[in-house]
Amino acid sequence: MKSPDQPEKKQQPPMRRSARWFRKNDLPGFIHRSTLAADGWTREDLIERPIVGILDTWSDLNPCNLNLRALAQKVREGVLEAGGIPFEIPLMSISENLVKPSAFPFRNLLAMDAEESIRGYPLDAVVLMGGCDKTQPGLLMGAASANVPAIVLNSGPGTPRSSTGGPLATANGVWRFVDQLRAGCLSIQAFENFERQTMGTPGHCSEMGTASTMSTLSEALGMALPGSSLVPSSDGRRSQIAKAVGRRSVAMAQGGPAPSDILDARAFDNAITLLCAVGGSTNAIIHLLALAGRVGVPLTLDRFDEIARRVPLIANVQPAGDHLTERLMNAGGVPALLHVLRPLLHLDARTVDGRTIGQIADEAQVFDAEVIRPLDTPVKPGASIVVVKGNLAPDGAVIKSCAASPKLFQHRGRAVVFDDVQTLADTIDDPALDVDAHSVLILRNIGPVGAAMPEWGMLPLPRRLMEQGVTDMLRISDGRMSGTAYGTSVLHVSPEAAVGGPLSLVRTGDMIELDVSERRLELLVSDEVLAQRRCEAPPQAPSPHVRGYRHLYGREVEQAHQGCDFGFLRGANADVLPEGLFDGWVGGW
Ligand code: FES
Repeated sequence: MKSPDQPEKKQQPPMRRSARWFRKNDLPGFIHRSTLAADGWTREDLIERPIVGILDTWSDLNPCNLNLRALAQKVREGVLEAGGIPFEIPLMSISENLVKPSAFPFRNLLAMDAEESIRGYPLDAVVLMGGCDKTQPGLLMGAASANVPAIVLNSGPGTPRSSTGGPLATANGVWRFVDQLRAGCLSIQAFENFERQTMGTPGHCSEMGTASTMSTLSEALGMALPGSSLVPSSDGRRSQIAKAVGRRSVAMAQGGPAPSDILDARAFDNAITLLCAVGGSTNAIIHLLALAGRVGVPLTLDRFDEIARRVPLIANVQPAGDHLTERLMNAGGVPALLHVLRPLLHLDARTVDGRTIGQIADEAQVFDAEVIRPLDTPVKPGASIVVVKGNLAPDGAVIKSCAASPKLFQHRGRAVVFDDVQTLADTIDDPALDVDAHSVLILRNIGPVGAAMPEWGMLPLPRRLMEQGVTDMLRISDGRMSGTAYGTSVLHVSPEAAVGGPLSLVRTGDMIELDVSERRLELLVSDEVLAQRRCEAPPQAPSPHVRGYRHLYGREVEQAHQGCDFGFLRGANADVLPEGLFDGWVGGW
């Protein structure tokens, strides 16, 4: 027991991570400090001040992230104001529309880039600056594995424009206009005019596509400041948010929380709840599965379906609803959505803000009930997403039911199978193609191993049928679909055809049955016939990728129901830099 005259032992704050590089009077300490003298920082600065890494995915080739360079300056200002030292670290930028063969495989490469940059450098906290679809999950996954305090700042939605006074040029509009063009309802001149209008400003897509979905989910996960995700890229408030993020990162550098303090099962449940409430992108399902794998949360597709069954679609935003995300922000943004969703959330989940999700939700307010609906008057009835299983998808497949046609939710039709996208492109409009409105269009071999999972899952409808007024058909693939797209598409069929999944056994003319209410997807062919077909199937072709990242990807990527991460990247591997790395080999002084 302590005697009264014994002096109170002063609680020492935990040693900051960067101190491992800078604290010692030895040769490594000298090298680390003197190296950064060229940046203008003194020995005392580096020893005493917290260090924040600004992980920036800016690129000229990525207009969705084009404003991040300017925002990074605002983050710097915030860090400096709060007494920290900012270092900007450029990372791989993944431009959804430009990079080939598909942006998707590079999410994992960015995640590795982020993880190793965080781990390898003397950083006490990081700001994750993404925007375009894959940049956000890539940064989150890398930060989760490095487990250094991290806070998300996104580029914000762009502001679409209309020079004609007609419909705004949005990514969602592209799909509709392409359909109208192919159906002969839109002139090529009108379509070219649309092309000239689109991409009004830097910033990510302004509907609830994958980027906006991942932005809003960052808030629900607790990894972004409340209300930060939907402020448009060109809005001055985004600069204010960037400064606030910089200031907050300095506090986090000294006391956390780290990703492992935030990203638990409650956080993922909350994120899935928001995903369903906003009718978000199916791509987010894959990203959340991968992120959960990084932090050891045993998340499965079944959990998405369980939550989706009880969460109504309350955000009236495209593609499932009417408005763009700016209107959702004006209605109160994510905090207002959380306010409405309170009965369905884990209110005690932690956030980078320091408050719980419940505290944030309690303080929020809905300003426009047309855009953020009450739970009992949703935008549409039923679940926003549905997970189906059956002999065609033993490990599951997903449907964005809020952007699909309910009349196809119980459907039986003849399969029309395309083995690759080139065959699809060459034959879909062939008048001789044996297809009708009840047919089930199947595109296979576009899964993670087959083709790095491009967004080809919204297969085009045959022109002949569109001219007859057909606007939707049941489509099935082992690929993905853009978050801005719509239609009755069964996506992410797992296991995929390229690894011998049952999708590889389907033949044109087979009957397929979908029953959404029973969550069932069946190939109506007997087990005996399928076994026979499996015996007759040609051996799997060797991968054409014999070297480089694509070789690694094809060898290591997991299936869609597991999140398409690399198996060897599962789990966090927090600070594994041994203390010996920071010791002087010629002794201290
Ligand atoms: Fe980058 Fe849509 S193309 S967010």
